[in-house]
Amino acid sequence: MGVRSLAAGMAAVAFAMTAALTGPGLAAADPGVPALGDDFLWGVAASGFQSEGSAPDSNWSRYAAAGKTADPYRDSVDFYHRYRDDIALAKNLGVKVYRISVEWARVQPHPGVWNDADFAFYDNVIAAVKAAGMRPMITLDHWVYPGWEVDRGGWKNPAMVDDWVADARHVVDRYAAADPLWVTINEPVGYPLLELSHGDLGPADIPAMQDRLVAAHDAIYDYIHAVQRGAMVTSNVAYMPGLESVAALPFEDRVAAKLDYIGIDYYYGNPPNADALKNEPWRNSLQPEGIYYALRHYAQRFPGKPLYIVENGMPTENGQPRADGWTRADDLRDTVYWLQRAKADGMNVMGYNYWSLTDNYEWGSYTPRFGLYTVDVLTDPTLTRKPTDAVDAYRDITAANGVPADYRLSHPTTSCSLVDPPISCTQPVTGPVR
Ligand code: BGC
Repeated sequence: MGVRSLAAGMAAVAFAMTAALTGPGLAAADPGVPALGDDFLWGVAASGFQSEGSAPDSNWSRYAAAGKTADPYRDSVDFYHRYRDDIALAKNLGVKVYRISVEWARVQPHPGVWNDADFAFYDNVIAAVKAAGMRPMITLDHWVYPGWEVDRGGWKNPAMVDDWVADARHVVDRYAAADPLWVTINEPVGYPLLELSHGDLGPADIPAMQDRLVAAHDAIYDYIHAVQRGAMVTSNVAYMPGLESVAALPFEDRVAAKLDYIGIDYYYGNPPNADALKNEPWRNSLQPEGIYYALRHYAQRFPGKPLYIVENGMPTENGQPRADGWTRADDLRDTVYWLQRAKADGMNVMGYNYWSLTDNYEWGSYTPRFGLYTVDVLTDPTLTRKPTDAVDAYRDITAANGVPADYRLSHPTTSCSLVDPPISCTQPVTGPVR
C-alpha cells in the first residue's frame, strides 16, 4: 500500500467514525473528504457509432439516412482515423480505463462472416489503449446492430439472440486476452425506447425485446467467464431519478446472478421529462449529490457488490454556457466529491468514467455536448478537439485520486432531492459550500 493509500485509508476511517456519530449529513467536526485509493479506476467513455464515423450499414446509419434524425451523421468526430490522438488525450488526463464499444455492424458486415480485416480497427484501438497503459472497457452492444439484422426484423426476431451471441463470442475470443472490463448491453431499458422512436419496434414488442436482452446478457456472461479468468461483467443501468425502482432496477434484478459489478450511468437530478424526449438534455437539472443517492440505492439493493459509474457527464447546448451557470469543471469536481463521500461512507465504488472524452453524435443530434474536449462537427471540417475547463480539472483529480480534503462545493445541495425518493429527501446529504 502506498503512502497516499495509507493516508487515504486513515482519513476514510476518521470520516466513517464521524459520519457514524452524526449520520450521513455533514459531520459536526468535519475531517474533510478522504481521497479515493490508488486502485480507483478513473476512466473515459464513448461508444462506437457515436464517435467513429465511417459507419457501416446498421440500424442507426439507416435512421440517419432516412432523415429520422435532426442532424446528418457525417463522420461524427472521426475516431476511426483519429483514435491514436484521442487515446493520447485520455492518457494525458491520467485515466486508467478507456471505454469503447465494438460495433457488431463493423465486425460482422454480412451474415456468417467474420474477417480479420473487419476486426483490424478494434485490434489497433485496443492495442493503443493497452500501450498507453490503460485498461479497455468493452461494450458489446451500445444500441447498434447490422443492417442485415434490420432486414430480419431486428429485436422483433426471436433468432436475434442467437445471432447476437454468435457475434459477441467472436469479440470475446478476440479481446479477452486484453483483460477488458465488460459491458454486455448498454442501458437495456433505454435501448427499446430508441428502437421505438426511430425503428420498427412497437410498444407491444418491448417485453419480448427485454426478454431477449436478458437472454443475450446471460449467455454471454457465462461465455466470458469460461474464456477470461476473473472477468468483470455488467450491463449498465441508466439511473432514472424518481423511477429507478420501476425502471432500470427490474432488469438488473433479472440478471442479478450474472453481474460482477453494477454499472451505473448517472446524469440528472430530475425524472425523465419532455426535454429528454426532445433530445434537449441541457435543460435537465444537475444534482451532483444525486450520484451519492444512486450509489446508495444500489449499495442497499446489492450489498457489497462493486459499483462502477460507467457514465456521468454534463450536457451543454452547442458548447454554450448553461443557463443555470454550471461549468463542466465545477460539475465534475462536485460529482467527484460525492464519490469520495460515498466511498468514505462504506459504499464499494470501484470506478468512474466521464462521458465523454469528446463531443459526439448524441443519437441524432450534434447539439447536446458532453465532451471534455469539444468538437464542432457541423462547422469545423478539421474536427479539432478543443479542451473545456474540465480537462485540467480531471487531470488534477486523477493525480490526487479526488478533490482535496477541504474541498468546498460550487453549488449547494438540493433541499429535498427526489433522485431516490423518499430517502434522498428524508435522509439528505449535505456538504460544505464555497
Ligand atoms: C448513453 C450514451 C449517451 C449519454 C448522454 C447514455 O444514456 O449510453 O450513449 O450519449 O447517455 O445522453
